[in-house]
Amino acid sequence: MKLLVRFVLIAALSPLALVPVAHAEGDAAAGKKVFRKCQACHTVDKGGKNRVGPNLYGVVGRKAGAVEGYKYSSSMASSDLVWTEENLHKYLESPRKVIPKTKMAFPGLRREKERDDVIAYLKSLSD
Ligand code: HEC
Repeated sequence: MKLLVRFVLIAALSPLALVPVAHAEGDAAAGKKVFRKCQACHTVDKGGKNRVGPNLYGVVGRKAGAVEGYKYSSSMASSDLVWTEENLHKYLESPRKVIPKTKMAFPGLRREKERDDVIAYLKSLSD
């Protein structure tokens, strides 16, 4: 009987697992402040130079590992990821969970609001 209940529950809930998580629209101005945590390694201005990490101008919607002249880790370069907002959320929460051998030495932004905001900021910087 218990088993049956569990089965029914799983069957009833599983479609929910397929619905993508919706994130709140971030605040780009707040995201600019969050970006201070990234600045040591990343520039965001158009045509800006690569530092420890690649320039991030226009990164939202771009394929991962695509900045010319930047030497990515082989796992980033060979990933088939596109930086959708969803993928950025996951990567910025915990870089190694998305690209296990990424050379981005950053522990991640734990607060969802910070991720929402910094992604909104990055989104505002593109053509
Ligand atoms: C300690 C330096 C460092 C910090 C701090 C850092 N990053 Fe990075 N980041 C890197 C490096 C290095 C890479 C390249 C990773 C690889 O090749 O595996 C990278 C890659 C990325 C990429 C992928 C870019 C591409 O072209 O595919 C994104 C997006 C990114 N970082 C966003 C951020 C954001 C947003 C922050 C701040 C919340 C941040 N990073 C903080 C070093 C850093």
